[in-house]
Amino acid sequence: MAWRVVLSVLFLISSNLQTGAVGDAQVPCYFIFGDSLSDNGNNNDLLTDAKANYPPYGVDFPQGATGRFTNGRTFVDIIAEYLGFDEYIPPFATANGSDILRGVNYASGGSGILNETGQQLGERISLSHQLQNHLVTITRIKEMLGTDPATYLNECAYTIWTGSNDYINNYLMPDIYPSSELYTPDEYADVLIEQYEQQLKTLYSYGARTLAIFGLSEIGCAPAEIAQYDNGSLCVDKIDDLVLPFNNKLKPLVSELNSNLTGAKFVYVSTYGVSTNAIPGATATNSTCCKTKEDDGQCIPFLTPCQNRTLISYYDGFHPTEIVNVEVAAIGYAALLSADTSPFDIHRVSGGSEGGYSESKR
Ligand SMILES: *[C@@H]1O[C@H](CO)[C@@H](O)[C@H](O)[C@H]1NC(C)=O
Ligand SMILES: *[C@@H]1O[C@H](CO)[C@@H](O)[C@H](O)[C@H]1NC(C)=O
Ligand SMILES: *[C@@H]1O[C@H](CO)[C@@H](O)[C@H](O)[C@H]1NC(C)=O
Ligand SMILES: *[C@@H]1O[C@H](CO)[C@@H](O)[C@H](O)[C@H]1NC(C)=O
Ligand SMILES: *[C@@H]1O[C@H](CO)[C@@H](O)[C@H](O)[C@H]1NC(C)=O
Ligand SMILES: *[C@@H]1O[C@H](CO)[C@@H](O)[C@H](O)[C@H]1NC(C)=O
Repeated sequence: MAWRVVLSVLFLISSNLQTGAVGDAQVPCYFIFGDSLSDNGNNNDLLTDAKANYPPYGVDFPQGATGRFTNGRTFVDIIAEYLGFDEYIPPFATANGSDILRGVNYASGGSGILNETGQQLGERISLSHQLQNHLVTITRIKEMLGTDPATYLNECAYTIWTGSNDYINNYLMPDIYPSSELYTPDEYADVLIEQYEQQLKTLYSYGARTLAIFGLSEIGCAPAEIAQYDNGSLCVDKIDDLVLPFNNKLKPLVSELNSNLTGAKFVYVSTYGVSTNAIPGATATNSTCCKTKEDDGQCIPFLTPCQNRTLISYYDGFHPTEIVNVEVAAIGYAALLSADTSPFDIHRVSGGSEGGYSESKR
């Protein structure tokens, strides 16, 4: 049943793509929170190593290198297309004027749930800071509309994908961060989830209702991790195992938030396995499309990337290629739609602890 919904949604997406038809947007606005997987330029003017505003990033993007950490579109760009927007959601760093009525992208490469995450990279906009930036936007929207924007904000779509850096650029760097000494993996997941819970409640209090919350993918399969922990295998299992407690605690949290927060339509989106499954017939690979810097796994500037970007999962040492982002976007968009359909309410009322709707994505 749930599968049928997902399948018909996916069919809808592919037929839209075939005709290139983009109607009026299905929602008035789309707000985006997260890290480099969603960032579309917020780090460009920050003092940080976490930047992607140089070639070969953007080799398949019409405007070239914009700060997107991939060859083409990010998954949030593609979700914006699916939602019917004819322009991508602007980064907070440069959004101005009435642009912000369509939504804003607050995501920042290197950032995480914890404020200190990513600090060795330089400046970044933590999730807490992104929420503060959202308040700035809300104040501006209120001025523009001349009324309380609460109803308007309730109607928007929201996505949030964060947490990877709390592992990659925190827990997995014992020389810089004490977290792995202070906490077992399970305790650390609790620390993250406790903070995340407060942040998600804050986002709700700022008007978010239809919100897709992405779980962590198998970051142990990122080529940069394989290179660091190299022992010839295609994924570093102990890193993949490390993030599972986070996902396992996030799922029930999302269900609980739906029960406790009136009108919340939050969905958990499972992305585990997507990067290795997105390319039909391709197996996991430890190679990257661009030649990468050894210290941070990002592309070496101005080198020519691999010829065919549809055959490889990872563009640089950490970030997926556009073809993987397409898959993630399809799953995320289906999740957003399912949040607004009746099966969701049935599940919510019946109080299935895992929220069956959230399990149907893969
Ligand atoms: C708004 O931002 C765009 C892109 O950054 C810029 O081209 C334009 O001049 C700005 N407009 C105003 C009114 O600041
Ligand atoms: C995290 O940073 C925000 C500002 O962005 C601040 O308000 C908050 O107190 C900080 N949290 C902690 C635990 O330091
Ligand atoms: C090498 O990788 C395999 C498969 O992930 C794992 O079982 C094994 O423990 C690893 N060995 C070392 C020394 O890390
Ligand atoms: C939801 O409400 C119950 C009952 O008041 C409470 O025990 C629980 O901690 C709440 N959960 C969240 C995530 O707020
Ligand atoms: C990638 O994997 C292949 C075999 O799967 C191995 O021969 C090669 O050494 C690995 N390369 C790196 C950089 O780990
Ligand atoms: C890339 O590979 C795919 C799958 O093999 C193929 O269909 C496509 O034509 C190739 N594109 C280029 C530019 O070589």
